[in-house]
Amino acid sequence: AAAVPFYGDRQAGITTPMQDHLHFVAFDVVTTKREQLVDLLQTWTAAAARMTAGLDAGTLGAVGGAPEAPPDDTGEALGLPPSGLTLTVGFGPSLFRDAAGKDRFGIADRRPEALQELPRFPGDAIEAGISGGDLCVQACANDPQVAVHAVRNLARLGMGVVSVRWSQLGFGRTSATSRAQATPRNLFGFKDGTRNLKAEETAALDEHLWVPGADGPAWMVGGTYAVVRKIRMLVETWDRTSLTEQEAIVGRTKGEGGPLGRTNEFDEADFALQGADGEPAIGEVAHIRLAHPSNNQGARLLRRGYNFVDGSDGLGRLNAGLFFISYQRHPGRQFVPVQQKLARHDVMNEYIRHVSTGVYACPPGVRAADEHWGATLF
Ligand code: HEM
Repeated sequence: AAAVPFYGDRQAGITTPMQDHLHFVAFDVVTTKREQLVDLLQTWTAAAARMTAGLDAGTLGAVGGAPEAPPDDTGEALGLPPSGLTLTVGFGPSLFRDAAGKDRFGIADRRPEALQELPRFPGDAIEAGISGGDLCVQACANDPQVAVHAVRNLARLGMGVVSVRWSQLGFGRTSATSRAQATPRNLFGFKDGTRNLKAEETAALDEHLWVPGADGPAWMVGGTYAVVRKIRMLVETWDRTSLTEQEAIVGRTKGEGGPLGRTNEFDEADFALQGADGEPAIGEVAHIRLAHPSNNQGARLLRRGYNFVDGSDGLGRLNAGLFFISYQRHPGRQFVPVQQKLARHDVMNEYIRHVSTGVYACPPGVRAADEHWGATLF
């Protein structure tokens, strides 16, 4: 129920031990006036600082303002604790240059080299309406009502300046970002996040997560890049697959989560190990072999995804899956090569479908009340 500090050198919601719920939202900027956008970023920052502390979005609050005016908070979080709420902002490539090639806000020359639209991967079934966006906010909290309240109030404050392009609810984390957290399970029933980049690995975070001065641009130093992929999981098909096949696809046991051929969850995978049949214990196209840093020039990701179930699809199946989020220092050198490999070879592809995509530059943290989201950019 406690509050996560909002101010700091880094944005919260990245290495913060993962909360249980997600409301992710992407916005399109509808104004062409730079001052209006910067004004909104200031308003948003103040509201975010308040809401993450468990306060109303505005200073008058849901019921403290003039009765004849709409309240400056929508009210559904009244009486609820901060619930570990974090709000993490990111800027999409289209903010710097829109689809028509226009530099609406005079920042095209400040776009980081690392912020490129993701390529199309084999098998992608991307829906444009739930992809991209000029800005994104990741709201994570231990109470879904608190996460939804935060996103709703940011959208309300953005009226006339931004409009909601798409949003996604997630329940149940599918990763761990701290060694203190137990590894949760995804909707295939497997532990997910065992070999994630964790908050305690500070040297690895500097190498794989945070943008260093040497990478630039200066406004992104101390920031990172978010990749989001909504991945539909065909759970009904998966559920008709044998346990042996499921474990072979992942490369780990379903119960304990240990790498095949070893015992415990945190045992190192031994890719040279052979079974009694002379075949590798972990198959050549097992998910954890394909995604392993040793097969990807050492690339690691900080994964921070959530399960979703958006009702059913009208064909007798759950519309379920994994809302994949990864943070990394350079998507083109980390997420992209790993996903190229998975998209080509992963047997798991028979059971999943990538339906949305997004990439966003997440600036460094807001250090004090006189700074705001994007202050280093604008
Ligand atoms: C590991 C499931 C998509 C990258 C794992 C593990 C599971 C899993 C069960 C083993 C436990 C662990 O170490 O976390 C899934 C499912 C996916 C999916 C169900 C889709 C619905 C992806 C995508 C990427 C990715 C899109 C990145 C492009 C990784 C990495 C590891 C991993 C880097 C750790 C590999 C290692 O170092 O051993 N995944 N995954 N996964 N996955 Fe995925």
